[in-house]
Amino acid sequence: MAERTFKIHRFNPEKDEKPYFQEYRFEVESGWSILDSLNHIKWNIDSSLNFRRSCRSGICGSCAMRVNGENALACETQVKNVKGSKIKIEPLPGLAVMRDLVVDMEPFFEGLKKVMPYFVTKDSPPDKEWLQSPEDRKKLDEPIKCILCACCTASCPSFWFDDKYVGPAALVKSYRFVFDSRDQAREERLDIVNDREGLWRCHTIFNCVEACPKDINCTQAIAELKKATVFSTV
Ligand code: SF4
Ligand code: SF4
Ligand code: FES
Repeated sequence: MAERTFKIHRFNPEKDEKPYFQEYRFEVESGWSILDSLNHIKWNIDSSLNFRRSCRSGICGSCAMRVNGENALACETQVKNVKGSKIKIEPLPGLAVMRDLVVDMEPFFEGLKKVMPYFVTKDSPPDKEWLQSPEDRKKLDEPIKCILCACCTASCPSFWFDDKYVGPAALVKSYRFVFDSRDQAREERLDIVNDREGLWRCHTIFNCVEACPKDINCTQAIAELKKATVFSTV
């Protein structure tokens, strides 16, 4: 057990004129994550604190927030690994704050919807499953790890300045279907992302790669999509 201070972004649009930080100091048990600590505050100290969470296992993507200046999943971030005398917790940047640590995810999901995040097949379905070679399946190893947490998109300066930009998470999703040997809408998909609000808004700054809690190389996926786009129009 060790005492830690949490400095947490608070904002209730119904009563606060502007956001402020509130500090909580308490004993953190060994093995606690940031999410365990937020739950402790909510359940034992201050029930008015708002944040999203669900699975507590790095699967649902809902607990993404900014911890000491870095986008991260609260449930996967161990308190003992966060340095500094205070642990500063803020909402994800680049998205409007609805309350405390809860942001409006609508622009993020709007970007995702634009890239058709679902399979498209035109042939009649086979008798059993759509088959894929192990080599083709391997191409999807990275993008299928995405849990849509928005850590990447919310770290992207291009998205901060233009939320019509679909963002790296949507482009990773596009990659996931463009390079899936079973999908049959490759040209349509490439047409969608071959746009100022798509691939070409990315300036290869790599923030998204550093922010991804699943170690997905978003920038590499975007570069592969750019290549595919150029190749398909030659
Ligand atoms: S590499 Fe592209 S998508 Fe990733 S943060 Fe930079 S501009 Fe955004
Ligand atoms: S690519 Fe990584 S950071 Fe972006 S939404 Fe998916 S899991 Fe989250
Ligand atoms: S609570 Fe589901 S990813 Fe953290």
